[in-house]
Amino acid sequence: MQLSWIGADLRFSYCTEHDLPEISRMLAKESVCRWLFFGPNTEEETRSYFLPLIEEIQEALAEGRTPEDHVFTIRLKHSGEFVGQCALLPVDFSPGSYLIGYQLDDTCWRRGYGTLACTFLVYFAFTVLGGYRLNGDTVADNTASRRVMERCGFVQEGVQRQYWHAGGGYYDRVIFGLLASDLAPERLSRLGETFTAA
Ligand SMILES: CC(C)(COP(=O)(O)OP(=O)(O)OC[C@H]1O[C@@H](n2cnc3c(N)ncnc32)[C@H](O)[C@@H]1OP(=O)(O)O)[C@@H](O)C(=O)NCCC(=O)NCCS
Repeated sequence: MQLSWIGADLRFSYCTEHDLPEISRMLAKESVCRWLFFGPNTEEETRSYFLPLIEEIQEALAEGRTPEDHVFTIRLKHSGEFVGQCALLPVDFSPGSYLIGYQLDDTCWRRGYGTLACTFLVYFAFTVLGGYRLNGDTVADNTASRRVMERCGFVQEGVQRQYWHAGGGYYDRVIFGLLASDLAPERLSRLGETFTAA
């Protein structure tokens, strides 16, 4: 199976253990974790979350199977500079339905990379994996994340009030969804032209 894809300025590669120091540095930042229900994280916490996912991915790839989990490291295509990570995680008991996630380092915000990362997840889930549904959620105040999903065609499906209780505050959870059938066939084929084998 292919390991890397290129879209515009970015390269998306299946995550390996070598990426963990940079992912850990990003997830140790207050700025990045401001609207996440976890973090800021120690390096140990980040490693213990990501390592089992990376092991599952690398084992599947080594055996020529499609992994269950899809965690990608995002880098600038020319310099290899670290930009962030994004992921598709399977929803239990619903083959073809995935939870999306993305976190970018704060040095790379507001350049359209969040939207490009989410667009890559849409492309990957519907075109490469043949999935039928994507699920996203965010703290209501996380305007950037909401905009990213809206720009990628996600529909707001509900609000769970005071879903998260963290740092002494209560936070509403806004739920988004996107069905493959929401996208016109031409849009799906345009996605296939945006991302190419690295
Ligand atoms: C959410 C995140 C991925 C957005 O990445 P980004 O590269 O800055 O996003 P883009 O440049 O593609 O911008 C997307 C939209 O968000 C808006 N936006 C970006 N940062 C914003 C901010 N701090 N406040 C308000 N709007 C913001 C942009 O203006 C754009 O909106 P527009 O279409 O109306 O112009 C990034 O901020 C991030 O990694 N945050 C920390 C981790 C996180 O919260 N992840 C999501 C968890 S649900």
